[in-house]
Amino acid sequence: MRVICIDGPAGVGKSSVARRLAEVEGLAYLDSGAMYRAVTLVALRRGVALADADALARVAADLAIHLGADGRVTVDGEDVSPELRSQRVSQAVSHVAKVPAVREVMVRHQRDFARRHLRVVAEGRDMGTVVFPDAELKIYLDADPAERVRRRLGEARPAEEGGEGPESEETLKDRDRIDSTRPVAPLRPAPDAWRLDTTHLTLDEVVARVRARVRSGT
Ligand code: DC
Repeated sequence: MRVICIDGPAGVGKSSVARRLAEVEGLAYLDSGAMYRAVTLVALRRGVALADADALARVAADLAIHLGADGRVTVDGEDVSPELRSQRVSQAVSHVAKVPAVREVMVRHQRDFARRHLRVVAEGRDMGTVVFPDAELKIYLDADPAERVRRRLGEARPAEEGGEGPESEETLKDRDRIDSTRPVAPLRPAPDAWRLDTTHLTLDEVVARVRARVRSGT
């Protein structure tokens, strides 16, 4: 099995880097955030209270989540990918992701995905610290919060194209706070992670540096 982990805070550009790397290195792309978003979407649809950890755990355990090697997510056969980045999911997802029993189910799915695909780039918050501690390479991307908010602005689809506009600075900061202070699998670099501050780098520059690191085999 060959696993490359990319962890880091919201809006740092992990997905863009991971997708590119998957393409050029011929790896399957594991978008672990999309899995937490899928559970959140279903919980919201069912009217489950975000404070009800047991009910959230039941939602996670009952769902047939399938993650395609291209990052698309289906839940009980329905492709939910277009809804996963909505504001209401972004605002709620960190509350769902902090529930230990939800994480247990997700970690199992993530390891299954890697076993099935064998060559994987895994993106998230705890890929290098918890899910794949023996990964071949662990990368931790960071950037100043203002720059991460700016990147989110660039990604957002305008309202006239059916988008909702960007995730607000407040939501992004809230998510980071909850993700990095939760007791189970908080966002933090693995001790053996290679850390890259991308604040002043373009996406192409980040990808080039990551590829050089992958090539160097460390
Ligand atoms: O990467 P993303 O923004 O799609 O992730 C959405 C949320 O899911 C993030 O705020 C925290 C949670 N998450 C997590 O707890 N662990 C992961 N490995 C990936 C995401």
